[in-house]
Formats: sequence, C-alpha cells, structure tokens
Amino acid sequence: MENLVNMFEKLKTTYKGKKIFLTGHTGFKGSWLLKIFSMLGAEVKGYALTPENDFDLYHLLNGDKLCSSVIADLRDRQTLSKAITDFQPDFIFHLAAQPLVRLSYDIPVDTFEINAIGTANVLEGMRQLTKPCYAVMITTDKVYHNNEWVYPYRENDRLGGYDPYSASKACTELVIDSYRNSFFNINKYSIHQKAIAVARAGNVIGGGDWAKDRLIPDIIMALSKGEQVEIRNPDAVRPWQHVLEPLLGYLLLGTKLLGNPEKYSTAFNFGPNFNDALPVKQMVELAVKYWGNGSYFVKQNPNQPHEAGLLKLDISKALVEIGWKPQFNADTALDYTVTWYNSYFTDKDNIAAFTQKQILNFLTNKSVGLE
Ligand SMILES: NC(=O)c1ccc[n+]([C@@H]2O[C@H](COP(=O)([O-])OP(=O)(O)OC[C@H]3O[C@@H](n4cnc5c(N)ncnc54)[C@H](O)[C@@H]3O)[C@@H](O)[C@H]2O)c1
Repeated sequence: MENLVNMFEKLKTTYKGKKIFLTGHTGFKGSWLLKIFSMLGAEVKGYALTPENDFDLYHLLNGDKLCSSVIADLRDRQTLSKAITDFQPDFIFHLAAQPLVRLSYDIPVDTFEINAIGTANVLEGMRQLTKPCYAVMITTDKVYHNNEWVYPYRENDRLGGYDPYSASKACTELVIDSYRNSFFNINKYSIHQKAIAVARAGNVIGGGDWAKDRLIPDIIMALSKGEQVEIRNPDAVRPWQHVLEPLLGYLLLGTKLLGNPEKYSTAFNFGPNFNDALPVKQMVELAVKYWGNGSYFVKQNPNQPHEAGLLKLDISKALVEIGWKPQFNADTALDYTVTWYNSYFTDKDNIAAFTQKQILNFLTNKSVGLE
C-alpha cells in the first residue's frame, strides 16, 4: 500500500468539493467519516436520527458545523428521496442502520425494515437522480452464512444470517444486488451512470462508541466508574480493527468505483490481518492494561440469545484490487481506542482536536496519542 499521506492527498483529488450524501452521520462510524470528509474538503449532507446522547461523537466533533444535517427516518421514503434529489450528490455513503445484534432480537421487524427497506429507500432516491452517482453501501461481516469454521469468508461465499440483524443485512445485500441488476446494470452504465459497491467490515473499535452491548463501550463504561468489567463470551473470536481502517477502505472503494465502475460494482471485505482475530478475553485484558488498572469477570447466561462464535474475513480482494491493507494490529487498535477514551475523560473540551490528531497520526502511522 502506498504511503498513507500520499493516499490522503489522492483521496482529496476524488472528494474535495464533491457532494457526499452520508447516511448515519450522527453515529459512531458516520461521525468519524464526517470528520474525514471535512478534512478532505467535501460538502456533506447527512441523513440520520438524532444522536442519542449529549456526549455522542457527533456533538463532540461539532457535527452540525461539518455538514448540512437532515434528521429523519430511513423508512420515510418521501423525505429521504427529497433529501437526495434536492442535494444532487456525487457520492452516497450509506451507513445508517439498526446495527446491534442483541437489540435485533427485541425489535426484529424494525431491524428488517430499517436495514433492508431503508436501503431500498436510499436506492430509490438514487434512482431519481439524472446525474452520475456512486454509492458505497455498508453492510457487515455478519452477512455470511456462519459455518463456525476456521476458514475466513470470501466475498463469493454464501450469504445468510442466524439472528435478525445478520439476516437483515444479508437481505440488504439482496436488495442492493437487485437494484444493481435491474436499474443500475453495469452493461448500461453509459446511460444511467450509476454504480454501487458494497463494503463488509467486521467489529470495529475506536473512540466515541457508546453503543450498548458492544464490548469496548461496555469495558470503558465499567472502567471509568471503577467497576469490574462483565463479559459474556470470553472465548468468542472476533476480527478487531480500528474504525479508521474500514473507513479508509470505504473511501478508497469510492475512488476506485468512480474510476472503473464496471470492475468495482461488487462487494469487498475489510478486516484485520488473519492473526488479529482475538478472543474477547484477550481484548479485555489488553484494554485493562492500556487503561492502567481494572479487572473483569465472566458472566455466562445460559438463556442469552445466540451470538456467532467465530468469524474471520478474507481480505485478499481488497488487498489486490483496491490496494488497501490494515495499518494496525489489534493491540495498536486497542491502544488508540483506550487512549481516546482516556483523553475524553481527562479533557473533554479538546476531544475534537484530539480526534483529528488521531486521524492524522493514523494516516502517517505514528504512535498513539498526542505528541
Ligand atoms: N460498529 C461496528 O462494529 C460495525 C460492524 C459491522 C458493520 N457495521 C455497520 O456500520 C454502519 C454504522 O454502524 P455504527 O457502528 O456507526 O452504528 P451507530 O449505531 O453508531 O450509528 C447508526 C446510525 O444510523 C442511524 N439510524 C439508525 N436507525 C435509523 C433510522 N431508522 N433512520 C435513519 N437513520 C437511522 C443513527 O441515527 C446513526 O446515525 C451500520 O450499517 C452497521 O451495521 C458496524
């Protein structure tokens, strides 16, 4: 992979002055991406629900100053279509979703509606455009039919989904594929000038995630209150990566899609290197180390809903065809993440500047924290 600073300059060539319709801009990944787009000089219109907490990353980064923000539901097709057609975007980055597995057991139908039908609504908006538009749609590694085997999943493996969240994202992919075939068929690209790529990433970690039932936020909340960390599945192996890794992948994918829509209108995995899939227990031990103190205990609940045990991604396609590769191992990703939260708890007022520094440090592969 070429020098990341050069990469950033190249991304500027693609995105500077471009109109980006970003769904999920108030969320964890969306807020980081919004910040990067502002650093790249893009013009962003966001579409999502209100951030849930005052301390959400969107507020901490002064998100309202970085974009024109539409607060509305993906299921409101009229509002969504109007927001897209009024804006006339060059790119759509679709991140908005109900993204939580455990919540999906409580609200399965909403999860299917938001994720699958919500995506159809975004694509309907895109269909109304009479100008070129390139979409990067974010699904997940959980779209794969999970065989609980040791082999990493490739983009052409069978899709599936045990829990409602995973199944809803697999449905999302079918929706995208159908629109890609029916309305944005690459054989007729010269007529419609639209192209869609799909990005599948695994669990990401990074500062500013406060979602319930996600490992890192749960750990940080406990540690910051001086409580013991409770973990459910100590041996579950997950591919961990810092949030900036897939975000860089999405941005590169958008660039490639623009340059060669025929080739890149397809799905790509973005995950860590093979050896960076670590058990939850090891991640907690590392988090405690970087926090400076703390302890954990395991509380297994025999009645807890099913969660996949083992899931690894094969990232060869992104390596070879996009020129993307992970910069951090799981240890460094966790160091970056815990350092962000430490900084938040010690100096909230400067967290936007600290976040920007972490982005720049990532892009120049510097060690953690402020110099
Ligand atoms: N965080 C992860 O580890 C992870 C892993 C794999 C895939 N993903 C995917 O990445 C994307 C972003 O995830 P995240 O972690 O930032 O989630 P998040 O919960 O922090 O953000 C979700 C965003 O979607 C918006 N949203 C939710 N329901 C909506 C609705 N009905 N209408 C309009 N907007 C709605 C929220 O307002 C928010 O802006 C999602 O598509 C998720 O499935 C995340």
